Amino acid sequence: MAVAEHTGQDGAPAEAGYKTPAQAEHTPAPWVPTVIAEDLHIVYRVYGGAKGKGSATAALNRIVRRKPGGNMREVHAVRGVSFTAYRGQAIGLIGSNGSGKSTLLKAIAGLLPAESGKVYTDGQPSLLGVNAAMMNDLTGERNVVLGGLAMGMSREEIQQRYQEIVDFSGINEKGDFITLPMRTYSSGMAARLRFSIAAAKRHDVLMIDEALATGDKKFQKRSEKRIRELRKEAGTVFLVSHNNKSIRDTCERVLWLEKGRLMLDGPTEDVLKEYEKFTSK
Ligand SMILES: Nc1ncnc2c1ncn2[C@@H]1O[C@H](COP(=O)(O)OP(=O)(O)OP(=O)(O)O)[C@@H](O)[C@H]1O
Ligand SMILES: [Mg+2]
Repeated sequence: MAVAEHTGQDGAPAEAGYKTPAQAEHTPAPWVPTVIAEDLHIVYRVYGGAKGKGSATAALNRIVRRKPGGNMREVHAVRGVSFTAYRGQAIGLIGSNGSGKSTLLKAIAGLLPAESGKVYTDGQPSLLGVNAAMMNDLTGERNVVLGGLAMGMSREEIQQRYQEIVDFSGINEKGDFITLPMRTYSSGMAARLRFSIAAAKRHDVLMIDEALATGDKKFQKRSEKRIRELRKEAGTVFLVSHNNKSIRDTCERVLWLEKGRLMLDGPTEDVLKEYEKFTSK
């Protein structure tokens, strides 16, 4: 493992070998924690689910004998995750489908309560997901304004940055789509607009859940560049992706989750090497 030049306040990042370009390129700043998770557990409670086996007879039995209230099932999605994220870091979150990545981000954003353990965040975390709330019946234009307001921008600020947001999204490259309702957009177009709105603002903690996956190559390149800039603006960026290349290109640290547990936390190359071994099995 490479040893970082800067010795952290508590020694942790330097020991782990993370390089933080934002800090290496500018004046070496002390390591400032932005997100701390401490033995975090998240449990979903699902009502109306059923216990039992997946066989057809078992399913039939369940349907016939269904109780009025149904059963309550628990899904233990995050199991004892601990880490500290620092200002200026871009952190990749990887792991198989259902391993708890989105759940962890929601918990950091304060959208899900912890069953036990704690999450501390410094500043306002913003979660940008493929399902981020947008009004499908409103035009792209109206959604830019709504999204901006939701992130705490003033109307003037939104007006100033409007053109920049639309240009960055590239929505209008193939015609005047920004004045059409969002429901007429392809999933890639919608994801691009969401990312562009979120990226227009400086974030303390920006979490991006697969938003880049649906964009085309050209847009991916552009957004990766923007992620690097956002990171330089002293925020912390979390990026969930199943594309190891985007993780390599944007993140210097990676958290690998599997079945809700943190398998590895370290410099991108080290973690991806192990993950690739695991996924090629
Ligand atoms: N709203 C919910 N209610 C109940 N269980 C849920 C809910 N959302 C997720 N889960 C469960 O929690 C676990 C973790 O899901 P999560 O969405 O965090 O995975 P993920 O790592 O983001 O997966 P993917 O790569 O497919 O996006 C899964 O077992 C899933 O079934
Ligand atoms: Mg997910």
